[in-house]
Amino acid sequence: MSDASLITRDLTIRFGGHVAVNGVSCEFRPGELTVIVGPNGAGKTTYFNMISGQLTPTAGRVEKDGTDITRLAPSARARMGLGRAFQLTNLFPRLTVLENIRLAVQAQTGEGWGFFRPVSRLTALEDKARHYLEATRLAKVADQPAAELPHGDQRKLEVALLMAMEPDIYMFDEPTAGMSLDHAPDVLNLIAEIKKDKTKTVLLVEHKMDVVRALADRIIVLHNGELIADGDPGEVMSSRVVREVYLGQAEGAA
Ligand SMILES: Nc1ncnc2c1ncn2[C@@H]1O[C@H](COP(=O)(O)OP(=O)(O)O)[C@@H](O)[C@H]1O
Ligand SMILES: [Mg+2]
Repeated sequence: MSDASLITRDLTIRFGGHVAVNGVSCEFRPGELTVIVGPNGAGKTTYFNMISGQLTPTAGRVEKDGTDITRLAPSARARMGLGRAFQLTNLFPRLTVLENIRLAVQAQTGEGWGFFRPVSRLTALEDKARHYLEATRLAKVADQPAAELPHGDQRKLEVALLMAMEPDIYMFDEPTAGMSLDHAPDVLNLIAEIKKDKTKTVLLVEHKMDVVRALADRIIVLHNGELIADGDPGEVMSSRVVREVYLGQAEGAA
């Protein structure tokens, strides 16, 4: 028996003639934060989309705790504990920050909308919602409509909603992209906090090297849709193949 919580086997997707992800086999374990790196267009987001269910692979499979989830809808995967940071389109834009978090908590606990819920349970929901509001340092914007938040706070709200779902697998795709320097540390501290819980599996797409160094237990490298390196952060980042990929890109950009 594998101790992996998430496995991809020969995961492949073709868009017309272009193979965006090509035969990626990889296992992810609880207590491990894996950073996925690779140049723009390497297939990182597409790989995530096939794991979370936004895209159906051309070939290969995705397994969570030994169950084949390759053909399940994203919502079914989320109910099984597979958590992808919400995109802004998943927010209720006219509801406040706190109301959005409350709905995510409610979805996670399976509470319905009945009139006759005991007050004690409503209080527990409210306490949890406040907890995630404060954990993500959004208390000062609790009553603002989600759509009116500055970009950095919206990204934090996405993380708050993900935490409120209490998944056992967390997926972050460039969580600090476009975020100002005063917001990014909050989000990275939250990820560091999640990582301390050794029952959680964390996948993080990130290219800022200081972030990678601070958080990665393991690094995998995608290049042209293929997994070209996998292992200890120090070894992977100093390997010849990875240096070629990154130096090649740096020269191209210069
Ligand atoms: N829906 C799509 N239709 C066609 N091509 C796509 C689609 N999504 C991604 N691609 C292509 O797949 C490749 C990988 O993209 P992506 O996964 O976004 O890379 P990364 O996240 O590593 O920058 C790119 O060449 C991109 O243009
Ligand atoms: Mg991407």
